[in-house]
Amino acid sequence: MDIASRPADPVTNPEAADAATPPQAPATIRREDYQPPAWLVPETALHFTLGLDRTQVRSALQVRRNPAGDGSETLRLNGDGLVPAGVWIDGEETAEWTIDGSDLLLTLPGDAHEIGIATDIAPSANTQLMGLYASNGMLCTQCEAEGFRRITFFPDRPDVLSVYSVRMAGDKAAFPVLLSNGNCTASGDNADGTHWAEWHDPWPKPSYLFALVAGDLVANHDSFTTMSGRQVDLNIWVRDGDQDRTHHAMQALKDSMKWDEEVFGREYDLDLFNIVAVADFNMGAMENKGLNVFNTRYILADPDTATDMDYDGIEGVVAHEYFHNWSGNRVTCRDWFQLSLKEGFTVLRDQLFSQDMGSAAVKRIEDVRVLRAAQFPEDSGPLAHPIRPDSYQEISNFYTATVYNKGAEVIRMMRTMVGAERFRKATDLYFDRHDGQAATCEDFVKAIEDGAGADLGQFRLWYAQAGTPRVEARLSHADGVATLTLRQTVPPTPGQADKQAMVIPLRLALFDRSTGQHRGEELVILHEPQAEFSFAGFATRPVLSLNRGFSAPVAIDADQSNADLVFLAAHDDDPFARYEAMQQLVVQHLIALVSGGTLCAADRDAGREAIGQALAAVIDDPALDDLMRGELMILPGETYLGEQLLVADPAVIHAEREGLKAWLGAQLKDRLVALHHRASSVPYSLAAAARGARKIKTQALVYLAAGVPDVAAQLAAQQFDDADNMTDRQGALMVLAGLDTPLREVKLAAFHQRYAGNALVIDKWFSLQAGSLHPRVVDHVRALSQHPDFTLSNPNRVRALYMAFTAPHAFHADGGVGYRMIADLILALDPINPQTAARFVASLGRWRRIEPVRSALMRAELERIAAAPGLSKDTFEQVSKSLG
Ligand code: PHE
Ligand code: ZN
Repeated sequence: MDIASRPADPVTNPEAADAATPPQAPATIRREDYQPPAWLVPETALHFTLGLDRTQVRSALQVRRNPAGDGSETLRLNGDGLVPAGVWIDGEETAEWTIDGSDLLLTLPGDAHEIGIATDIAPSANTQLMGLYASNGMLCTQCEAEGFRRITFFPDRPDVLSVYSVRMAGDKAAFPVLLSNGNCTASGDNADGTHWAEWHDPWPKPSYLFALVAGDLVANHDSFTTMSGRQVDLNIWVRDGDQDRTHHAMQALKDSMKWDEEVFGREYDLDLFNIVAVADFNMGAMENKGLNVFNTRYILADPDTATDMDYDGIEGVVAHEYFHNWSGNRVTCRDWFQLSLKEGFTVLRDQLFSQDMGSAAVKRIEDVRVLRAAQFPEDSGPLAHPIRPDSYQEISNFYTATVYNKGAEVIRMMRTMVGAERFRKATDLYFDRHDGQAATCEDFVKAIEDGAGADLGQFRLWYAQAGTPRVEARLSHADGVATLTLRQTVPPTPGQADKQAMVIPLRLALFDRSTGQHRGEELVILHEPQAEFSFAGFATRPVLSLNRGFSAPVAIDADQSNADLVFLAAHDDDPFARYEAMQQLVVQHLIALVSGGTLCAADRDAGREAIGQALAAVIDDPALDDLMRGELMILPGETYLGEQLLVADPAVIHAEREGLKAWLGAQLKDRLVALHHRASSVPYSLAAAARGARKIKTQALVYLAAGVPDVAAQLAAQQFDDADNMTDRQGALMVLAGLDTPLREVKLAAFHQRYAGNALVIDKWFSLQAGSLHPRVVDHVRALSQHPDFTLSNPNRVRALYMAFTAPHAFHADGGVGYRMIADLILALDPINPQTAARFVASLGRWRRIEPVRSALMRAELERIAAAPGLSKDTFEQVSKSLG
């Protein structure tokens, strides 16, 4: 069938046009309402006539009545902002269609039909970056979760799997490279300067994994031979000039392919794997089958433009998207409530991969820090939801730290309880049992149970209950026996007032204070609200090291003395526990100070003294590698500190934390300067020792900047001038950006000039200023929003300026100017890019946990947003939940 023959003039259908603006209260979709699809689509053919301003799409869907469906004669094809330019049933054009909301409905008499549909879309007008859109003259798609329905009418749900054939044609000069999923089966030139390509993907997939890219791109080519000997061509496609910045991503891809074979037994299943880097992208990257699309930020790197953290981010995200080929694509999700099935599991897989590629200890600490900074606040706020949500209005709002990072922690706990070996047997069973299917979280848990021989009955509560469990631990000692009493509570969350006791696996060790040793680690599993565990053979009271390796994503209240914490910070052989002891030492000190009470200046001095000694020991310890030393030197963040309090005053927390930092910087000045000096002599390389040196170098500056700003300004300027890599340059500039020194302007200007035109580095330039400790950040951000390099149309740029700004300090400025700026941003961005706009709501949504004056100001801004007409579903849902 020639699906390109019909000129598709846009039809103006008033009903469809109205449906583009959602009503103020969007429908709520519920998990319990799931129904299997009435119709299946075993095959899909798509034909694109490409153009930036106008692209014509013709589809041919082989539809079959689903024996497991409700037998309905109605075929519902989802659409979003589309108007059918023609509809055919079994080759006959028909006018017998109706529009319901934005969807196209057809009545079909038989069990099998071919449906043809023509649509006409405008990629360059697509500012949401969902569906087919234009970015820097290229065309690309983003379909997860519900973007495919912005390209053509389709049963746009993940349990409808189809084999896709794609034909695309377009101007050869504008779009020399034409890509889609699977393999390229044919291509050719036309006489009129256009050319075409046909792609076929043999693996059935849901529509959210469809992808198409057309543009002027060049590739870094490589290849990988799989464990069964299949040679796979690898390409990373970028704009000309960027090829040299793709080597780290390519290495990460090859490492991922090998690791997944070795660790999970997963082999790649096509002869071709393409990655395309796009500058305008809402998220990090997307796992489309055989054609991953990436935010440039997670592909492009070289020492001059990317930090060590950027390198790690690239390695992790490349692995993440690659691992989705099995955990996500071969086994996909039945419905979007099951999102954590693919995301939680894939995050765990990428975390384990990164642990194996570098320092496992440091990676674990970083992952916990991210969880505490992003997920704990989510779990204790108005947007809290279980890792498997029960309802949503806009699914884009559920790509959250809870679904991703807590989801990974939940699967990690299963692995901890059954052990790595049995876990591997269980994942083999899972992949085997559900290959080619759209599965549920329940299917996953069942496969782990069956494959590992475990009972996860009560454990399933982790999928159903939101909120971070709190475990109170008390250790008593009598007659040679140490007794640990554990008590758990799960806080109420929206819609879940009463909680049941969870299964909480806690790795622990009991240290002999005199020898500094313990007699082996134990795993205790708390099932009950309260339980006691006894350990005999302790002549003296041991020191408790609990939740080692962060074996459970819970908050621990162990009420440990400073002496015990100092002991653990110096002696614990579990790196996470050691880090945690340092954190806890600082948390207890700062929380005691900011919650007022009976503390006096002498208490403050005593606390600082203990922390200072511990930090000095960390700086001096010759047995520590510098990467780990750098971790131990990081103070707990202001958000995490605020989390410890029912109601926090961000200004007080900020002042007290900065006060401590300044005291430490002044007190340990000589040590820190010496540390900076030692680290500065290590030449640049990507080896762990050199990365560690760079990390502690900037850490040292951070303390010095607070304690002895003049010394820090000189050292930072020197570091900036001497830098032969972005880690040192950015670290130095970060410190300078927070100081009131003429060097600040000079170095910021030099940086901007050096990197003009390099979007990813200019993003850094915005972030450093917006997230700085400078007293006039609010003014700086206001000025930067008017800078010629600023634009609301690029999500990276928006996040660079405003996400950095929502970090506590400046955002909570007196009088609520920060809140107003974020609300103004949300209102301005919502009509352009609702997904990105909605992501900013959470910062204001914390109002219930903030002191009354600021709380009222935050709430007022949320109300102002709520009152705005024509809000997107995305922003509406987040704002109404935040106020509710
Ligand atoms: N599925 C992508 C990932 O986790 C994330 C994503 C979601 C990207 C929605 C784009 C849109 O790897
Ligand atoms: Zn993912």
